[in-house]
Amino acid sequence: MISLEDSKIVVVGGAGFIGSWVVSKLAKKRPEKIIVIDNFFLGREENLKEAKQLIGDRLKIHKCDAMDYDLLRDLLCKEGQIDVIFNLAVKPLLVSFHDPVDAFETSVKIAMNLLELQREELFQTLIHFSSSEAYGTAEYVPMDERHPLKPTTAYGAGKAAVDHLMISYYLCYGSDVAIIRPFNNFGPRQNTKEYAGVVPTTILKIMKGEARSYLAMENRLEITCTSKIQLKLLLRSMKLNIRAVRS
Ligand SMILES: NC(=O)c1ccc[n+]([C@@H]2O[C@H](COP(=O)([O-])OP(=O)(O)OC[C@H]3O[C@@H](n4cnc5c(N)ncnc54)[C@H](O)[C@@H]3O)[C@@H](O)[C@H]2O)c1
Repeated sequence: MISLEDSKIVVVGGAGFIGSWVVSKLAKKRPEKIIVIDNFFLGREENLKEAKQLIGDRLKIHKCDAMDYDLLRDLLCKEGQIDVIFNLAVKPLLVSFHDPVDAFETSVKIAMNLLELQREELFQTLIHFSSSEAYGTAEYVPMDERHPLKPTTAYGAGKAAVDHLMISYYLCYGSDVAIIRPFNNFGPRQNTKEYAGVVPTTILKIMKGEARSYLAMENRLEITCTSKIQLKLLLRSMKLNIRAVRS
């Protein structure tokens, strides 16, 4: 198990929905420092208010495009030896429908940058957030890690490609990586405006009395409330590394 106490942690995409909950949770683990890297495409500084209150100046926020290798490298070098990087940066699924190149390239380029910087020994452990979108439509339920990767969108293809990249770096270089594939999440801090996903959009419609029939979806999706269950699972999954995922 990785000890988070006194560790230096980077969260890429840390101003977003799940990323900011990861930051909040980590802030309670007495880290030496948490460094958020986000280009604020969808991230919001107010998502980090709770963590700021908890650890003050030990939370650093950098507005930075993680697709820019040199910028990212400079930033990590300035921060000194880092213990863990969580990667949650992504372009939302809806972007991939009208701009599949952007959605795919964002996922792959950021992951590639991080894997290369890890190979340069600028940090120890990489925990990557993939998605159930990497599996595509369920061929059986409940889906598990053995389910084939058959993504049906460029967003999902980006996720599947990055998962393969991560595994290849582990097999080729012994990189210390872990992959998490969450299903649908909902909860506070989630984007409900442009590019909002189906779950928050539907919840808002139900709250406004506009979409009662959508209630049928509860039996079809695996939904996790991020602020409660998902983060417990995340911290438990940090005991795992890619060896566990492959076995
Ligand atoms: N929300 C869900 O239901 C769900 C389900 C499965 C997997 N995931 C995965 O979890 C992770 C977080 O998802 P989320 O829902 O919090 O999304 P989000 O859009 O709220 O957060 C993503 C963050 O990445 C940032 N970002 C985008 N491009 C960037 C770039 N080039 N450089 C730096 N930062 C950049 C955004 O500004 C945003 O803050 C993603 O990898 C996503 O695929 C989410």
